[in-house]
Amino acid sequence: RDTKVEVGNYIGDYIARRINSFKPRPDHPNFVLGLPTGSSPLPVYKRLVELYKNGTVSFKDVVTFNMDEYVGIPRDHSESYHTFMFKSFFSLVDITPSNTHILDGEAEDLYKECEDYEASIKDVGGIDLFLGGIGADGHIAFNEPGSSLTSRTRIKTLAYETILDNCRFFNNDLAAVPRMALTVGVQTVMEAREVVLVVTGQNKSLALSQMIEGGVNHMVTASALQTHPWALVVCDEDATSEL
Ligand code: GLP
Repeated sequence: RDTKVEVGNYIGDYIARRINSFKPRPDHPNFVLGLPTGSSPLPVYKRLVELYKNGTVSFKDVVTFNMDEYVGIPRDHSESYHTFMFKSFFSLVDITPSNTHILDGEAEDLYKECEDYEASIKDVGGIDLFLGGIGADGHIAFNEPGSSLTSRTRIKTLAYETILDNCRFFNNDLAAVPRMALTVGVQTVMEAREVVLVVTGQNKSLALSQMIEGGVNHMVTASALQTHPWALVVCDEDATSEL
């Protein structure tokens, strides 16, 4: 696609079609959507909100699992992924709040929080479609370079490049950026029936080329998607400059 907006519209329409054609089963009664944060998915959320408002899609019976959350900032912090999701999407559509799942970076027992998250995904019959972005260092969710490609939901220390990257959301105050996060693993993403990746902007062009044209490897964790049976990468013109 030419622009970020066109990428957002394409993916938004695509997800709405998937939700509308979902056939419930007793062991898998709801469409289960994996969701990312960051600036790249914003045009997707915008489109999904439009499609909800014009009656094309309803999220009432959709179950969601977010990819990740920071550790060390409260849930109501302006930059927590909880706040991001409610502001950019959940509060603007008819989603049932109890159907939304976001890792709790303030949980007393972070290990248990991660285990329970994996169990909740299994309980609802697995994720139908995982929407993801990519970090400039090639990470998917917060699976930083070096993460095992068979990793599951866990605590992760953020790479310096990610901390620098995310500084823009914290008034460019490096010290304010959390150093750790909870994140689904590469394997958690790989087990989704379908993965759709939104990749936009010149600053993602190197990561995109390494992910698609490089070998599958744990230094560019998004490259694992090369082996996924149903992965779709939707990018704008700027992101393709290194391909
Ligand atoms: C964070 C998120 C990733 C996201 C990345 C890119 O690191 N954990 O899931 O893909 O940011 O963000 P942006 O889209 O703002 O470039």
